[in-house]
Formats: sequence, structure tokens, C-alpha cells
Amino acid sequence: VANDRDDSGSSFDRRRFLVGTGVVAAATAAIDGAEAKETASKTRIVGPGKVKIDLRVNGEVKHVEVRPGATLAETLRDALHLTGTKVVCDRGSCSACTVMIDELTVCACTTFALDCVGRRITTIEGIARGDRLHPVQEAFIEHDAMQCGFCTPGMVMSCVALLQRRTTPTREDVRAAVSGNLCRCGTYPKVFEATLAAAKKTTLSKG
Ligand code: FES
Ligand code: FES
Repeated sequence: VANDRDDSGSSFDRRRFLVGTGVVAAATAAIDGAEAKETASKTRIVGPGKVKIDLRVNGEVKHVEVRPGATLAETLRDALHLTGTKVVCDRGSCSACTVMIDELTVCACTTFALDCVGRRITTIEGIARGDRLHPVQEAFIEHDAMQCGFCTPGMVMSCVALLQRRTTPTREDVRAAVSGNLCRCGTYPKVFEATLAAAKKTTLSKG
């Protein structure tokens, strides 16, 4: 039997160490178990059938019934008929489906509708004020910043979100803001021009 006492004469004792680690492991397991129970008691199991949820979209509460796996994009388009949000790649790589959740832009095709409960969702349909288009929308028209238009709603949403967090952006800021928005028609120079013009117009009208 190996001697449990360290040759150096220190008080290191393997048996006591092992007993000690056993106690710590048991305590950790007990804490993990308690946390798991607490998490489980807070977790609401939904599905596999449809679930009724309320979504706040463009300032209005909408009642919808969705599959637990439904994306925000399909919920907006199919259940709420808000077809301005485009689905192109449907896998989070082109940003055509960009919407805002609170102040952040997200790809609606890779966001679960269930995860948006209690958040503010803003889509391209929700940025105009009555009959007046958003300054970014007006600038896109004035500067001819679109061709086929598939990327345009997502591109506009990215630019609107940028102007909300930075009122006087640089060209580099705009470039970074739309860096995830793929435009196969190559409208980027016009998008930069339009967004900078919209920022200038907005700042002047406030000043
Ligand atoms: S459609 Fe959502 S990222 Fe392309
Ligand atoms: S305008 Fe055609 S993809 Fe951008």
C-alpha cells in the first residue's frame, strides 16, 4: 500500500485529498442538480403542436399561432402577411431578411418567432411615418440605390439601424453596416451615397 504521506514532510495527504475532492464533487453535483431543477421549473415546454404567442410588430401586438420551430421570417410573411421582409438564402448568409429586434438588426430567417416574444420587432413596413417614407427610403429612391430590389428591404433596415445609433456616419460606417447585406446587382456605391444623404438631411432637419 502506498504511503499516503508526502516524502517532503508537507501535510499533503493523498487519502484526505481524495476524500476532500469527493466531498467537493458531491457538493458540486448537488448544486448542479439544484440548478437543473430550478431551470427545469422555469422552462416551459412547448410543442410539438402549434403554440399561441403575442408578437409586438411595428408597434402593434399581433396574436399568432406558430410551430415551435417557425422562423420569424416565415411568421412575418405567412402568418402576418408582411411580405416586405424577403427570404433569399434562408440560411443566414445574405441578410435580405434583415429586421430589427429592439435596436439590433437580425436575420429573420435564422431567428425563432418564439424567441421574439416580449421584444420590439420592426420590419420594413414599420419605418415610414404615415404617408411619409423614412428618410433612408426616400434617399434610396432619389439616389437610385436599387436594381432588382431583392436585397433592398434588408439593406434599408441595416441603414436605418445605423442612423439610429449614429446620426453622422462616415462612408466607412455605412460600408460596415451593410457588409453582411449581399447585393448581386452591385448597388453598394449608391447605397453609401443614399445613406449619407439621408443622415445629412435628418441632421439638418433636426438642427
Ligand atoms: S434570407 Fe435570411 S440571411 Fe438570406
Ligand atoms: S438590387 Fe438586386 S440584389 Fe441588390
